[in-house]
Amino acid sequence: MTVIAIANNKGGVGKTTTTLNLGAALCTMHMRVLLVDFDPQASLTIYMGYDPSVLTHNVYHMLTRRASALEILCTGRRPFLDLLPASIELASAELEISGMMGREYILRDQLETLKDLYDVVLIDNMPSLGILTVNSLMASDYVIVPVEPTYLAYKGLEMISSTIGEVRRYNPKLELLGTILTMVDERTRHSKEIIGLIQNSFPVLMPMIHRSVKFADATAKGQSIGEYAGENFDGTQAYAEIAQQIYDRLVPDGNCF
Ligand SMILES: Nc1ncnc2c1ncn2[C@@H]1O[C@H](COP(=O)(O)OP(=O)(O)OP(=O)(O)O)[C@@H](O)[C@H]1O
Ligand SMILES: [Mg+2]
Repeated sequence: MTVIAIANNKGGVGKTTTTLNLGAALCTMHMRVLLVDFDPQASLTIYMGYDPSVLTHNVYHMLTRRASALEILCTGRRPFLDLLPASIELASAELEISGMMGREYILRDQLETLKDLYDVVLIDNMPSLGILTVNSLMASDYVIVPVEPTYLAYKGLEMISSTIGEVRRYNPKLELLGTILTMVDERTRHSKEIIGLIQNSFPVLMPMIHRSVKFADATAKGQSIGEYAGENFDGTQAYAEIAQQIYDRLVPDGNCF
């Protein structure tokens, strides 16, 4: 089982959209995929079509050791695409676990109990680098950083790379798999320049994801972009191509799964 954190402390850059759509694309490649919603906004849980307020257990209960990962698992809505859901209660977990021994390793230990059930785990993170995101980086083999090509976002990349550097002292296997350029509108010179800067400084998983209203429409319907806009849509194909690169990286000889 390989664990990938989708993280960026900047908000609204497409982390949750990327988590869902890479998960859906990896699933079509016959991988058993688990998505983890690690954000109190619970957007991933909602994008997956669940109502967080009616789920009795979620990652808050897992982090505060009131329930196990297996007990909070949501399964069956889509084949081979399961979810550890979140809810607004998660907002208080940060404070509640701050005094616990081994608080940075709770997610890692819980995911370990599911290691025979899944090939890949994608963790959607909140837009901050607090104890929840640190928990997720401690549990991960790789990080993917979605980034909208603006100057401030480019500057923000330095912050997340230095956090990755710090976490590597405790989790040496952690590696930046790459950034994904999201919500790209290549018509402006500014965005072209920033894309160039990012490509010169960080590994970028190509192709870029262009800005399209279809993404917001898909999320409003609780659908992946492929389910909403079809396999031929440029955004569906872009996520599929990135998923293929991830697959090739995780399964170099093509016959592990
Ligand atoms: N390529 C895209 N083009 C246009 N809109 C997009 C694109 N990707 C995502 N969106 C939309 O932008 C909004 C923010 O996306 P998303 O929720 O994935 O960001 P996020 O980084 O997870 O945000 P947060 O930091 O709040 O968790 C959503 O309404 C989503 O549908
Ligand atoms: Mg999000």
